Amino acid sequence: MTTMESKEWHIVAYAPEGIPTSDNLKLRSSTIPVDAGSIPDRHVALEMLFLSVEPFVRSRMTGREDGLYSPQLDLNQVVTSFGIGRVVESTDDKYAKGEIVTGPFLPVAEYCVVPSDFIIKKIEPNGDIPLPDYLSCLGVPGFAAWVGIEVLGEPKAGSNVFISAAAGGVGMYAGQLAKLRGCRVVGSTGSDEKVILVKEEFGYDEAFNYKKETDLDAALSKYFPDGIDMYLDNVGGKMLEAVLNHVNEGARISLCGMISEYNKVYSNR
Ligand SMILES: NC(=O)c1ccc[n+]([C@@H]2O[C@H](COP(=O)([O-])OP(=O)(O)OC[C@H]3O[C@@H](n4cnc5c(N)ncnc54)[C@H](OP(=O)(O)O)[C@@H]3O)[C@@H](O)[C@H]2O)c1
Repeated sequence: MTTMESKEWHIVAYAPEGIPTSDNLKLRSSTIPVDAGSIPDRHVALEMLFLSVEPFVRSRMTGREDGLYSPQLDLNQVVTSFGIGRVVESTDDKYAKGEIVTGPFLPVAEYCVVPSDFIIKKIEPNGDIPLPDYLSCLGVPGFAAWVGIEVLGEPKAGSNVFISAAAGGVGMYAGQLAKLRGCRVVGSTGSDEKVILVKEEFGYDEAFNYKKETDLDAALSKYFPDGIDMYLDNVGGKMLEAVLNHVNEGARISLCGMISEYNKVYSNR
């Protein structure tokens, strides 16, 4: 039997509030059989190449089924997220050794065996597109940015657009899409380094560090003297409350996520 030692992140206890710690997540090693004689029929053994551990994974660690779109992770199982893997063995004719696949619920592990009718799809080789792009601009963050700006926000040329978590997976593409529409785009982010990144790499007109400019009302007055026409909200909470006092009549708000609430400690309220 051919096996591979695989390091895997397991969830061992739910974290209903606060930041998850090593009490919740453990790095463990497993022995994964990767030869055709050992893996079940219609399965593929994958060597994981890239993983995107996205904010939605946090929502699957609370232990609460409170209407979220994906179910809670099972305790003592491997955490799953979006990933890209190379087929190292297959018992399904649809997949050949060496092919690259991607999927939304792949194990956060070095190796895994998953059913071939699992939600995976092949990535056709294209030398022009680096593999990680399939998880970022061509993956869910890019899609969320496109829906937020192009489908829901529809900002007009010259509009004043605000994007929170501007340096994140969604924000970096959302800002560029709004710039392509000819908008004036301002982002908020959590460090001076990210402010520079957002302006110099992602092309935002302005950006501010919300951890330094903590008077959000003053910051929004300063960066939006003519008000906000479109807001892509990635953080919710105090930022969303502040924005509501600065929106123009007819403004559009795309609610993409509320990351400021995901690790909230409710018992201290
Ligand atoms: N609806 C959808 O289909 C969909 C898809 C993808 C993502 N989302 C949502 O979009 C948001 C951004 O996702 P992403 O993929 O861009 O995430 P990401 O790349 O992981 O970036 C998240 C960033 O959020 C900022 N952040 C963290 N805690 C914060 C807090 N308490 N207050 C303000 N900002 C905080 C941090 O940047 P700073 O250092 O700048 O604070 C962090 O790097 C999330 O809310 C996510 O749930 C929704």
